[in-house]
Amino acid sequence: MTTISDALSLPCGGALKNRLCKAAMTEGLADAENRATGRHVTLYRRWAEGGAGLLLTGNVQVDRRYLERAGNVVIDGKQDNARLAALAAWAEAGTAEGTHLWMQIGHAGRQTPKNIASEPVGPSDIAVALPGGRFGKPRALTGDEIRDVIARFAHMAGIAKQTGFTGVQVHAAHGYLLSEFLSPRVNIREDEWGGSVENRARLLIECVRAVRAKVGPDFPVGVKLNSADFQKGGFSFDDCLRVVELLNEEGLDLLEVSGGTYEQPRLLGVEGLEPVFEEKVQASTRARESYFFNYAVSVRKVAKMPLMVTGGFRSRAGMDEALAGGDVDVIGLGRPLCVDPNFPNKVLSGALEAAPDVEKGLRIGPGIFGPNSPIGIFKALNGFAKIGWYYEQIYKLADGDDPDLSLSGFKAFMAYDKTEAAKAKALVR
Ligand SMILES: Cc1cc2nc3c(=O)[nH]c(=O)nc-3n(C[C@H](O)[C@H](O)[C@H](O)COP(=O)(O)O)c2cc1C
Repeated sequence: MTTISDALSLPCGGALKNRLCKAAMTEGLADAENRATGRHVTLYRRWAEGGAGLLLTGNVQVDRRYLERAGNVVIDGKQDNARLAALAAWAEAGTAEGTHLWMQIGHAGRQTPKNIASEPVGPSDIAVALPGGRFGKPRALTGDEIRDVIARFAHMAGIAKQTGFTGVQVHAAHGYLLSEFLSPRVNIREDEWGGSVENRARLLIECVRAVRAKVGPDFPVGVKLNSADFQKGGFSFDDCLRVVELLNEEGLDLLEVSGGTYEQPRLLGVEGLEPVFEEKVQASTRARESYFFNYAVSVRKVAKMPLMVTGGFRSRAGMDEALAGGDVDVIGLGRPLCVDPNFPNKVLSGALEAAPDVEKGLRIGPGIFGPNSPIGIFKALNGFAKIGWYYEQIYKLADGDDPDLSLSGFKAFMAYDKTEAAKAKALVR
């Protein structure tokens, strides 16, 4: 029976030394020119030494006009020697100890904050429905602009390979541009990029195809895909299964299953302002703490490529159990590695059975100001506080410090709001 310690051969010919993957987590560490920095080097060396077989970078953006946050690394256009050297240093650090380091390629689409782009872009002109005015109304991309996005994905993949990253992952989850195209609720186009699931998936498939053409057959290419958006009228689990069938033809090395969007942040196991819209899937007794395991079991029946599931894994028993039946091949881990960069080594060696629960008291305030507030704006702010808490821990790791587990949710939110606004201002300037 497969355990977290076993190696995994990839279809392209490479191998991961074990079944644990540090999932993509946006670092916010780029300089004002959106270049990688020494802080990426420190952070990824720590994570590489932490024992995971695979590290995925946070989302690196293909277009500097539309970012997920101001501190994103961007690869668009010609890369001068300084930019290439910064990427190569990052790649070298993240591949220490025989660890794979894959660059996550993304376009933020309509989830670009307003302080970066007052008018972001998307498949259609439907804005993110969150209170607080953080996101502007997008405009629909033209056909030529969609072709340009595809070329940008391929360009970044080529640069990743050139600078020493050992693979790439196309980000098609969590409500960013490719995920927006997949959603019939956000994509109401009537051309070849909208309508049927095949049309909605066209941008993803063409991006993957262009990336593969750029990097050749021997280089790992993965995709992160939502099991569902968990919103009425959104990307459904049936859609997901059809997209997996289409991806089967594209020679992928790893498919990561996640779920949710900013409006419905199921990826973090939390609920948005609307009720969660959930389809029935067969329940597995081996699901334990993993949010999307039941979906992964059904995806397995369709998928020809290795499968990874991310979200909620905390215990060695839960991880081994998920691998044992052969339903998934790799376990994705996000937040536990912000709290302890050595978490993989510790569970692999048996020194630790499970990651500590650090989220219990994470909120901006009590009662109606808390995460279950009936008032939309407070519920949303608590979500940002939680993310902000992890951002602060990532900064600490990148500075060579220990995480600060005593940091309060309120303080984390204030720090998050201040830093993100200041960085966005500097970027726009
Ligand atoms: C601070 C933070 C940043 C994240 N950034 C990204 C990202 O850049 N790309 C991505 O695909 N997912 C991102 N995620 C989602 C994680 O990859 C993962 O799917 C999620 O945290 C659930 O896994 P976990 O329960 O092990 O944390 C982020 C999550 C956190 C907590």
